[in-house]
Amino acid sequence: MDAKVQSNEQLFEALITGLLTEGYALADGFLSSLEVQDILEASAGSYEQGGFNIAGIGKQQYYQLNRNIRGDHIQWLDHHNPPEACRPFFGRLQEMIRYFNRSLYLGIRDMELHFAVYPEGAFYKRHLDVFQHTKARKLSIVCYLNFEWAVEDGGQLRLYLPQENGPEQHVDILPVAGRLVCFNSQTLEHEVLPGQRKRFSITGWLKDDLPLFAPPLPGNS
Ligand code: OGA
Ligand code: MN
Repeated sequence: MDAKVQSNEQLFEALITGLLTEGYALADGFLSSLEVQDILEASAGSYEQGGFNIAGIGKQQYYQLNRNIRGDHIQWLDHHNPPEACRPFFGRLQEMIRYFNRSLYLGIRDMELHFAVYPEGAFYKRHLDVFQHTKARKLSIVCYLNFEWAVEDGGQLRLYLPQENGPEQHVDILPVAGRLVCFNSQTLEHEVLPGQRKRFSITGWLKDDLPLFAPPLPGNS
């Protein structure tokens, strides 16, 4: 086994331990600085060229825009054909999904991902990532792309941790470059606190249903 495979396994094992014990997990260095740099350039470039939309809430007929709830801008990514800069990230994610499916029997078969940009002052109020009429989302993942992000910059991801006894607890996570956060979409309420700087990330959901329209298999078109 080469060193890289082994270190990936260690990383995935640490994530699994966090998920099972706390309902969330965090991995620093999920992306290297160079990988972050490439993705950040692609995302910021597309944002500046108007490739993003104002994010909404809900799905289909329930969809609404509400600036009092969330203020981020997003661009959906095609995970069957990701932007060049995102390929290392998608590759590692696929490996992670295979590992999670083997170890946790999660049955992840699909995902959806988008770039997100929170302009200065933007936030996302406390919420859960599952829609009332679909429970397909199992794990939420966020990978951050912000170099030199300090506590004073705000923009923390606040995770509310359910307690069996006693008052509710929360943890605040800084959106620092290369860090991956992963949590249970069904149970963990969370919010994004207002930030003082533009805040970049890739956000996604690992799902256990099949896509409505599967892409044709290679050689089958
Ligand atoms: C979301 C979300 C968290 C973050 O997009 O649903 O909660 O830290 N994002 O960006
Ligand atoms: Mn969320």
